[in-house]
Amino acid sequence: MMRLVVLISGTGRNLQAILEAQRLGRLQGRVCAVISNRPDAAGLQFARDAAIPAITLSHRDFPDRDSFDAALSQEIDRHAPDFVVLAGFMRILGSDFVQRYRGRLLNIHPSLLPKYPGLQTHAKALANGEAWHGASVHFVTEAVDGGPVILQGQVRIRPDDTNDSLADRVMREVEQVIYPEVIALACAGRLQMRNDQVIVDGKVLTAPLQLDELRTEH
Ligand code: GAR
Repeated sequence: MMRLVVLISGTGRNLQAILEAQRLGRLQGRVCAVISNRPDAAGLQFARDAAIPAITLSHRDFPDRDSFDAALSQEIDRHAPDFVVLAGFMRILGSDFVQRYRGRLLNIHPSLLPKYPGLQTHAKALANGEAWHGASVHFVTEAVDGGPVILQGQVRIRPDDTNDSLADRVMREVEQVIYPEVIALACAGRLQMRNDQVIVDGKVLTAPLQLDELRTEH
């Protein structure tokens, strides 16, 4: 069984989906700890409900990014994870941290990367009149929201969409589906990163996997 540490900052709906996949026996792995940089993160409750250590490490208690990152990696390493899963973890991690977990560090981002890195992705997609929006799971490298993409899922933008309606649909129809899928692949030993490229089942991915393709395969 692969060991996972999940990092959150907020509501934890991605964490919730990962724990549900674990509960249903879909992961050859288990979440060993959940760490939040915010003491009030609602998502910590999902960990407590599943009897998983729910740990707070507030970045406010540290003078700078490097000292927070160092304390965070010390806490992570106590749980000896095979993968570190960023699930709405809203802190930029320094390059020492990223190097340390290279190839074992996953993130989900609410856009069809490389479009709309950063914040307010839903508002930007709406403002630009996009027909499609979605989310991406990627390996983390030094480039913020820039590491190689593993799996994406899309939703069609509706004429009456608001920021909230779009964010909600992306969360429920894409994020909560694609993150458990990728983590299942990782836990099955089918997913690696080599030379900043994604390898699935020993083959280099030339383009991100698409949720629709996975659905038709199953
Ligand atoms: C999710 O939409 C996630 O994709 C996003 O934060 C939200 C967290 O929600 N992450 C980023 O924007 C990272 N750049 P959650 O706490 O309910 O999973």
